Amino acid sequence: MTTSSAPGKIILFGEHAVVYGRPALAVPVTQVQATATVSENSRGGIMIEAPNINLSAELSRLAPDHPLAAVIHSVFSTLSISNPPACTVYLQSTIPVASGLGSGAAVSVAIIRALSAFLGQPLPDEQVNALAFEAEKLYHDTPSGIDNTVVTYSKPVYFIKRKPIKTFHVGAPFTIMIGGTGISAPTKESVGAVRKLWEADKPRWEKVFTRVGEIVWNARQAIERGDIAELGRLMDANHALLQAMTVSSVELDQLVEAARNSGALGAKLSGGGRGGNMIALVEKENAPEVARALSSAGAKRTIVTQVA
Ligand code: MEV
Repeated sequence: MTTSSAPGKIILFGEHAVVYGRPALAVPVTQVQATATVSENSRGGIMIEAPNINLSAELSRLAPDHPLAAVIHSVFSTLSISNPPACTVYLQSTIPVASGLGSGAAVSVAIIRALSAFLGQPLPDEQVNALAFEAEKLYHDTPSGIDNTVVTYSKPVYFIKRKPIKTFHVGAPFTIMIGGTGISAPTKESVGAVRKLWEADKPRWEKVFTRVGEIVWNARQAIERGDIAELGRLMDANHALLQAMTVSSVELDQLVEAARNSGALGAKLSGGGRGGNMIALVEKENAPEVARALSSAGAKRTIVTQVA
């Protein structure tokens, strides 16, 4: 039997513009995890058990482009295994689905690692990342690759599409409060909506994406020198540009406002938007107050994570 776990992730800065080649900053969230366990079974065939999403099926009964089936097939084909042994892939996850916390990428990474180890050929990170990226394309057509990269390497990432992975130094630890709207929002839809805007007026949106890229670069420098106040201002500025891209929502804006009014240094939506999560930069002492304000403003859950 083999088991592997992968963390969730949050994007600190730069979502959406990252799809158009601008940089983004993201960090793992280890408080939530997806876990895959692969074990021999005596009934034959390859079974997938994912109680979180009410799935219990034989691999051969799932469509080949079902994200879980596709990941499993990709491991077999990478390892040139044409006759896989009978086994059960059991999935458990505490990462809320379609919430901007990278649940799809984490499930893929956990399966790829557990299954390749079960088959006696554990894959190196680079290949795990490449296979998880292929699976991301099934969740939405034009992924930047940021989710699978942060989840695979489980470290803070300064990410530019198709460029080698770069991590960044954190000058002083800071605390992020994640507030969930409880509204499930597939990344595919918000990414598609931004693409439509861009196609209708490329010069305008390229300028907006460039402005986001500058914010991301400034945020990286603020993080490296430990300038938390500046980081908060940059979050607010990034949120305003995400609103312009139409990927915020009434619920996200309410949570962002509530966080700012209760003492957060800055706040923005995080991930695809139109639901899912927002994040707020908080000081440890006022974290409970911000959490209370978020709950009264409609947050379905809050998670506190330290970036260090
Ligand atoms: C999703 O977590 C982040 C987006 O920028 C999409 C992507 O980068 O693939 C919205």
